[in-house]
Amino acid sequence: MNNFCSLGDCNFSQCHHCFPVINCSLNHQWCDKFGTLSQIIEIKTQKILVTGCCGFIGSHLCEYLLKNRNVSIFGIDNMNDYYSPQVKEKNLNILKNYPNFKFKKDDITTTNLISDWKPEIICHLAGMAGVRYSIQNPKLYIKVNIEGFVHIIEEAIKNNVKHITYASSSSVYGLNQKLPFSENDPIETCNSPYACSKRSMEILAKMYSQLYKINFIGLRFFTVYGPRGRPDMAPYKFLKAINDGNKFYKYGDGTSSRDYTYIDDIIRGVVAAIDNKKNVKCEVYNLGNSNPISLNTFIELCEKVTGKKANYEQIENQMGDVPYTCADISKAKNDLDYKPKVSLREGLKFAFNDILKNDYK
Ligand SMILES: NC(=O)c1ccc[n+]([C@@H]2O[C@H](COP(=O)([O-])OP(=O)(O)OC[C@H]3O[C@@H](n4cnc5c(N)ncnc54)[C@H](O)[C@@H]3O)[C@@H](O)[C@H]2O)c1
Repeated sequence: MNNFCSLGDCNFSQCHHCFPVINCSLNHQWCDKFGTLSQIIEIKTQKILVTGCCGFIGSHLCEYLLKNRNVSIFGIDNMNDYYSPQVKEKNLNILKNYPNFKFKKDDITTTNLISDWKPEIICHLAGMAGVRYSIQNPKLYIKVNIEGFVHIIEEAIKNNVKHITYASSSSVYGLNQKLPFSENDPIETCNSPYACSKRSMEILAKMYSQLYKINFIGLRFFTVYGPRGRPDMAPYKFLKAINDGNKFYKYGDGTSSRDYTYIDDIIRGVVAAIDNKKNVKCEVYNLGNSNPISLNTFIELCEKVTGKKANYEQIENQMGDVPYTCADISKAKNDLDYKPKVSLREGLKFAFNDILKNDYK
């Protein structure tokens, strides 16, 4: 054994001071016992299942991990048409360039992939997003977000998965008046089936963490935007409409506000939650920017970034809307070393450049 270092970082093709070389002809006992280099790499690589890998946040997370970490990722997504599946296909094509990435079109409510592939860690981002659509389709949100989560957890427990990071939402704070929103605040005013489904996921995670040896981190994302942003959300819709000279709707008088958070900041938070360095058993964290911007100011910023004047029609607030969101991020700072860096103005420029690059070919 002393003849082998354990790092495998030596480049000599016939080196016998490190891992057995691939196709080594010397038949070392060590190689027979511990396997070939590729098998050892597979063992040493962290196996992560990412659900919703073709979506906005999921595709950025996979790309970040594949670029920066020694991981093997299996992504699943059902490619539904809540927004254009072509957008999801484009995201998937980026991930297919990485040899450590595998994909299956699969549904979180029925998938067998956890039993088949046996991940160590799961990052569960698949789900039905969107407040207004949830008011029209409440049963779909219960089915996908709640039943889907339970299916993933039950499979995880059967297969000895130790840690699940999952997407919750700032929407759980509903009509709460106290700002900024803290994880300690009561959650009693959820304002849509979507918000209720996310809150239910948090309650289920708590229950499962009490019954079984499995850790959960729930992340309450606050209005995430950036390149490859979701086409149903205001940052993408407004930038695109203003650039095209098209009319869009402004809901309410423009005094409502949102805590817009740039995708790279969110991804740093998700990765820290996956790492779970503090080994927390079951917690939820706000991942926001802690800098709310009114809708009027947001539209002005979009005008500055595009260099064009907005053309909008003001209409009533919609059912399910909440007046403000603002994250207290002290808990995430403390436990996840979470520090958002990108200002809204800078982030909107990145988002707009991506729209120019991809939507006008
Ligand atoms: N983007 C935000 O601002 C934001 C804010 C709060 C919470 N979230 C949550 O974060 C997660 C990711 O959000 P996103 O913005 O990337 O949304 P997204 O819609 O782009 O990604 C979700 C992905 O899940 C997939 N999916 C949906 N139902 C599925 C099913 N039954 N089986 C398998 N895959 C399924 C979709 O096809 C999609 O690709 C979601 O759970 C969302 O609710 C997002």
